[in-house]
Amino acid sequence: NELDRAPSQGVGPEYMSSTEKPTATVSTQVSHANITILPQTPQLIALLTMIRDKNTNRADFIFHSNRIIRLLVEEGLNHLPVREHIVTTPVGKTYNGVRFEGKICGVSIMRAGEAMEQALRECCRSVRIGKILIQRDEETSQPRLFYDKLPEDIADRWVLLLDPMLATGGSALMAVDVLRSKGVPEERICFLNLIASPEGAANFAKKFPKLRVVTAFVDKGLDEKNYIVPGLGDFGDRFYTL
Ligand code: URA
Repeated sequence: NELDRAPSQGVGPEYMSSTEKPTATVSTQVSHANITILPQTPQLIALLTMIRDKNTNRADFIFHSNRIIRLLVEEGLNHLPVREHIVTTPVGKTYNGVRFEGKICGVSIMRAGEAMEQALRECCRSVRIGKILIQRDEETSQPRLFYDKLPEDIADRWVLLLDPMLATGGSALMAVDVLRSKGVPEERICFLNLIASPEGAANFAKKFPKLRVVTAFVDKGLDEKNYIVPGLGDFGDRFYTL
């Protein structure tokens, strides 16, 4: 039922009373333990409103998507292991901190996932990035692997898998199969995604319950063409000119 799946809440800074806050549609909450939905802050809802608007031009679409993607990358990094790291500060005192442990790499699902590489590079200097091209086979309408180029030591790395839209999950699930065939265990994969459908999130939770999914928003559902609704249309077409 559409209404059950469209929660709305007052969105605004804390000093605004609940009657002053505008009501906005926020993410559907899902009960899968492996999915993290970004906090539905006024910032995030405003950024999403901008990129969902069909009248938003390409430059604004890119700028505002990049900001959301940066939030996703920062949250995704919270899911990587850390270990104790004690440093001495310039005033001669010690600070008890942590540092990241282990090697990472990004893997983008072409072409839309490539739009998420820049934010990953900004957060992780000189990060290795692999690519996977999966397209729907015209005859069978099933996803088919066309190309992959991955770091040779990927089995020793944590993988941040990049794809902005999780519709049915067909291509992303196939991408995970490719990674597993190269020796990456599902628990070392974190899938970063802007908008997910409840169906896509459920398919991931069922097939790969130990793989982490970080998304900005779980939308209402899918239309008959498997577009996410309300969604934002075709992410690749809005981000890229060609
Ligand atoms: N891919 C997109 O770009 N948009 C959708 O709605 C679904 C898949």
